[in-house]
Amino acid sequence: MGLFSTKSLERIQAEAESKNELRRTLGPISLIALGVGGIIGAGIFTLTGVAAATKAGPGLVISFVLAAIGCVFAGLCYSEFATMIPIAGSAYTYAYATMGELVAWIIGWDLVLEYSVGAATVSIGWSQTLKALLQNLGINLPARLTASPFEVLPGGGTAHGILNLPAVLIVVAVSALLMIGIRESAGVNNVIVVLKVGVILTFIAIGWSFIKPANLTPLIPQNTGHFGEFGYSGLLAGAGVIFFAYIGFDAVSTAAQEAKLPKRDMPIGIIGSLLVCTVLFILYTHVLTGIVPYKSMAQSAAPISLALKEIRYGWLSTAMNMAILAGLTSVMLVMLLGQSRVFFSMANDRLLPKLFRDVHPRFRTPWRCNFVLMIFVSVFAAFVPIKVVGEMTSIGTLFAFVIVCAGIMIMRKTNPNAPRPFRTPLVPLIPILGIAVCLAMMLGLGWTNWARLVGWLAIGLIIYFGYSRSRSLLNQEK
Ligand code: ALA
Repeated sequence: MGLFSTKSLERIQAEAESKNELRRTLGPISLIALGVGGIIGAGIFTLTGVAAATKAGPGLVISFVLAAIGCVFAGLCYSEFATMIPIAGSAYTYAYATMGELVAWIIGWDLVLEYSVGAATVSIGWSQTLKALLQNLGINLPARLTASPFEVLPGGGTAHGILNLPAVLIVVAVSALLMIGIRESAGVNNVIVVLKVGVILTFIAIGWSFIKPANLTPLIPQNTGHFGEFGYSGLLAGAGVIFFAYIGFDAVSTAAQEAKLPKRDMPIGIIGSLLVCTVLFILYTHVLTGIVPYKSMAQSAAPISLALKEIRYGWLSTAMNMAILAGLTSVMLVMLLGQSRVFFSMANDRLLPKLFRDVHPRFRTPWRCNFVLMIFVSVFAAFVPIKVVGEMTSIGTLFAFVIVCAGIMIMRKTNPNAPRPFRTPLVPLIPILGIAVCLAMMLGLGWTNWARLVGWLAIGLIIYFGYSRSRSLLNQEK
């Protein structure tokens, strides 16, 4: 028994009220900026080139639209939950309230893929951007220290890497910041957001007149005979990969306890940041694939630099890459912070050991949790290729979105009269469409990623049944 015990809405709200030591300082603009700060990162700056070269060609623009549709549906469901249960635990807490402890555990465990493995992905993107930046300045970092040993070059053969040292160093630096408590303030975030959006807008403005229509025809290159390699299935596979670029809007929901008027501003932050980024991404991809023939981006982890060289604006690369480095660092900060908050909530419910909720007496941060995460994320950053971690992040996040969409339908049945300051329109149509689009993108990611997801969740279930279930606070009270 106890597997499907749910935490009542009243209890969650009471716990939040009694524990809310966070200050309510964020208004709608800061919340949109927070979302944009979490969204714009490695996905758009490093994955786009390879996704165009190997999956969708210039049709990647359509993949961006597909992924955005899935995200908007999920975002509407997130908005309903975030106004109803304005608590930092996000999807984990929503699942605990609707589908019971087992599903909450599964989703909490799954969020490790989104936040921790996601942070590893961004750290590798950071390392690749640093490499491109230094290359522009005539400094070549050795491949042995900047690539995973399993990194395979698109033409075959390995990259001769031993470990990705810059990626590890940035993980350690960001974790250290989190441990001593220098939290990214909304002000710093706003500056970085201006820089990131500035890079994209400048690129679009400069590049627009260099678009060669020949590079964009045919928009959807013919399928190679393999699922996911160009053609319509390539659009889906492309969406599965670049979906990574949108991840982060859900982080707005974890700031619900810091919003001035969560009931009004949560949906504005979530949907607003998504819409801003969708427009930027579509224009950016159109310009990128219009300037650089998609086939020549197969090895490019810094597509902006490549495109700028192509149009003789290479001198701008250094400044842009510096802004991108700052931008990626802030994404990592948001992700690692989000991860520690989810583990903190799980440890408070006694599903994880005490060390995950231990707060440092002076720094007031869950520093032991940050330390364990630092080791875990560093291992991925050092030894796993970006493609693998990126796809694991995407499938894990898509799975979380599916559960959140399903949760909305369940909540409408179980708590029909609870106050809903924001109501997802057209329930059950929107959640069902959200589930369908997210599942389709998961399919586009191929069976290896499904196997990884299932393997990861199986490890989680062993821990749940071996450790968490018997210790759960909720179950012990029964
Ligand atoms: N959307 C974030 C990025 O692309 C995770 O880096």
